[in-house]
Amino acid sequence: MHLRRFYIYNMNSDILKDAYSPKSFRKQAHELVDILADYLDTTLTGDSDKVIRWQKPEDELRYWNDFLVNGDQKLLFQNIIERIIHIHHPRYMGHQISPSLPVTGLTGMMSALLNNGMGIYEMGAAPTVMERIVTDSLCVAVGYPESARGLLTSGGSLANLTALVSARQHYLTKENSTGSDPRRLGVMVSDQAHYCIQRAVKIMGYGEESIISVPTDENYQIRTGLLEECLLDARKKGIEVFALVGCAPSTATGIYDDLDSLRKFAKARNIWFHVDAAHGGAVIYSSKYKQLMKGSSFADSITIDGHKMMMMPGITTALLYRDGQHSHNTFKQKANYLLEDSKEEDWYNLAKRTFECTKHMMSLHWFAVLKLYGPSVFDEFVTRLYDLAALFADILSEETDFEMASEPMSNILCFRFCPNNSGEVSLNDLNKKIRQAILDDGSFYVVQTKLRGVQYIRTTIMNPFTTSSHFRALLTMIRDVAVV
Ligand SMILES: Cc1ncc(COP(=O)(O)O)c(C=O)c1O
Repeated sequence: MHLRRFYIYNMNSDILKDAYSPKSFRKQAHELVDILADYLDTTLTGDSDKVIRWQKPEDELRYWNDFLVNGDQKLLFQNIIERIIHIHHPRYMGHQISPSLPVTGLTGMMSALLNNGMGIYEMGAAPTVMERIVTDSLCVAVGYPESARGLLTSGGSLANLTALVSARQHYLTKENSTGSDPRRLGVMVSDQAHYCIQRAVKIMGYGEESIISVPTDENYQIRTGLLEECLLDARKKGIEVFALVGCAPSTATGIYDDLDSLRKFAKARNIWFHVDAAHGGAVIYSSKYKQLMKGSSFADSITIDGHKMMMMPGITTALLYRDGQHSHNTFKQKANYLLEDSKEEDWYNLAKRTFECTKHMMSLHWFAVLKLYGPSVFDEFVTRLYDLAALFADILSEETDFEMASEPMSNILCFRFCPNNSGEVSLNDLNKKIRQAILDDGSFYVVQTKLRGVQYIRTTIMNPFTTSSHFRALLTMIRDVAVV
């Protein structure tokens, strides 16, 4: 079909003129900024009563279908705000996502509107160079040598997959490779790792047997004493381990693995060591807590999510390589219309090093935060959140009817309500019921997890303005809803 036969000559589309109107944009944007500033005003302080207005998916679907047809255009932005979860609320203690810094709302707007593709240098010169600067600064903060390089990519899951692809590439090309069949390779990781590691291994074409799950101790930390046994077990089954992944920390429990021991083990066996620090990598900025990452400066690669503990909007993830050459070798491939062959490491053509071709200008957020507030803002944020979790743990241990899954090592804290008189109801059912009641009410947002068959309420303290009175109010609410 040739377009020329069908086109209708119409260069005066009113819809397009209207949709691109700078005048309307100016008006809408000013209105939106006012709405968002009001949102921050009432939310950060905790003055707004609800964190979430929970609706069943079918009811929400009905609402927005109706709004699309009958809703008032002027209420679009306001209605979105009213019907979403409020991450900036101090009673938000749910999944691991940052209350993004307001300035990143502005850089997000720039990224969306200016829409530089980022695949190759000329499709985003300034954000490409900013990406180099922010990832270099992360490499320095980790303690990597000068040969290190990083990149930004769309989320921790993709960064972990990218790292494992690099690890396999390295394994298959390194001089001492045993030349084993690539279909019989495997990855060692704790049984508490985020599910994306398992998924990455499967995406790479391997089956369940290639995920060598290392048991954890009573505090959910990987049992380093079992590494050798797991490695040998895998070998007996014909699986050659090409990567060991450390959790910093694990998602459900917030417990950091002993990275220093892991890296020693990996080095002695010539295995790639990757640290999944999607959640807690930001601790490298905390003078108080950076010991938790001890050993990571020797890791071959590290994932750090900006949108978890660095106040960036989703999704903004850094993947760092101790030896930057690995990121260049991972996706060696030709695409004549876009990527030219180069002898040198052309760090400025980002599509050569990431899964993405087009990606949003995530470096703008990072660069703006560094420029406006400096790296100490990351220290303040992460240190405060970890301190708050310690405070919450203190409060919980004063109460005889609450029990923690383990002492917190980060801002993730799992606990359960276990009164003496829970009667006929099992504690698992009771804690499930409590979490549902909290969700239905919406004054707090907490989540849940099951650890070794025990149902817990899972909190991640994400808001630096959460206080001890919010923690105490949560416990009061739990006791109240437990008896209803
Ligand atoms: C330890 C860990 N790794 C990876 C991920 C996945 O990151 P993302 O949601 O950015 O893909 C998460 C998300 O919670 C996580 O906690």
